[in-house]
Amino acid sequence: MKFVRFIMKNAALASVPKHIEHFSKFSPSPLSMKQFLDFGSINACEKTSFVFLRQELPVRLSNIMKEINLLPDKLLTTPSVQIVQSWYIQSLMEILEFLDKNPDDYKVLGEFVDTLVTIRNRHNDVVPTMAQGIIEYKETFPQDPMTNQNIQYFLDRFYMSRISIRMLINQHTLIFDGTLNPVHPNTIGSIDPHCVVGDVVQDAFHSAKMLCDQYYLRSPDMVLQEMHGKKKAKHPMSIVYVPSHLYHMLFELFKNAMRATIETHDNSNTLPAIQVLVSLGDEDLSIKVSDKGGGVPFRRIENLFSYMYSTAPAPQIGEHTRPPLAGFGYGLPISRLYAKYFQGDLQLYSMEGHGTDAVIYLKALSTDSIERLPVYNKTALRNYKVSQEADDWCIPSKEPIDMSIYKVPK
Ligand SMILES: Nc1ncnc2c1ncn2[C@@H]1O[C@H](COP(=O)(O)OP(=O)(O)O)[C@@H](O)[C@H]1O
Ligand SMILES: [Mg+2]
Repeated sequence: MKFVRFIMKNAALASVPKHIEHFSKFSPSPLSMKQFLDFGSINACEKTSFVFLRQELPVRLSNIMKEINLLPDKLLTTPSVQIVQSWYIQSLMEILEFLDKNPDDYKVLGEFVDTLVTIRNRHNDVVPTMAQGIIEYKETFPQDPMTNQNIQYFLDRFYMSRISIRMLINQHTLIFDGTLNPVHPNTIGSIDPHCVVGDVVQDAFHSAKMLCDQYYLRSPDMVLQEMHGKKKAKHPMSIVYVPSHLYHMLFELFKNAMRATIETHDNSNTLPAIQVLVSLGDEDLSIKVSDKGGGVPFRRIENLFSYMYSTAPAPQIGEHTRPPLAGFGYGLPISRLYAKYFQGDLQLYSMEGHGTDAVIYLKALSTDSIERLPVYNKTALRNYKVSQEADDWCIPSKEPIDMSIYKVPK
């Protein structure tokens, strides 16, 4: 019996490349916030959701698995990346089991929810494990700008794909597990149709403040202002959004703002407050977090969004003492992905010597909030293959030019 199962498992494993080939030919289908809401309320139908997901999840998984395979060999073969890849293969196989199952059978639907929960848990540590792979790679091999650029391109797409897959899984499992969310009875899955931005700002600020107090025994205050057009907002501003995503972004921005504020004012008894401005227009809802933490040189701003860069010492993986205030340098790049996921963005404006403004741009209308998803196609493939060509702008040299060679002999 054991032997038969072993053979079957191997047969399934052997057919994985074929399935990846098949499903990666489909483009992922981006959903709008409105579709997510409809899907979870008036049109909530577990059967439809099941039939959609058993196709869409393999499509999203396979699209990104094709790109994992394009990583430089030396990175792909690190133990950490191998583990991540095996999780993806395992999860894909588990979903494919449902392709020939009957959507009318409630037992099948129940098993599907269980499988999705297993998959979500299996992938919990993808980000730190992948980060570990990058560290192993960085330590062993000299870096070249081309590989760095490829890794940046890949990780942005890989983590965005992961955010989207978790979103689909969360919606299905939360809506169809048959219980109401006791803490937030009005949410639809993980979406709050009336997500009060000011409340999330306060929550994220207080969590960051607690962490900051633990590390530095002090922390700056926060001043929050809300603007609606030219007027001060009368009602608390709200949007249709995933509160946990917004919280994640704000928490990261507050941690950064606090660390910068404290480290530049370590000789002073008072700390300048962090200013937060929330502004609602016709198209955008923008949130600006401003600190007086000394800023960052303009040249380095783009680096801050790099997965290969952090100024804080790398935390040890598996270190469960307390969550670090800063670490892998993933705060900003991942937060920007959350903002971009629903067509927003996150940008940093800094003045070295003074401080930094970080702005989160979100879509004000739920009809504009549509998933932004990577698709594996010829363009993506080309982006991995571009050869290292010479820059078409001169590189300024620090050495003075030897003008003597231009001297006309007398
Ligand atoms: N508000 C800020 N003021 C000054 N420096 C900042 C600010 N925000 C981010 N940085 C710099 O950007 C780096 C990357 O930030 P982040 O992506 O959050 O990673 P981490 O905080 O783990 O290092 C930080 O290490 C810090 O040097
Ligand atoms: Mg940070």
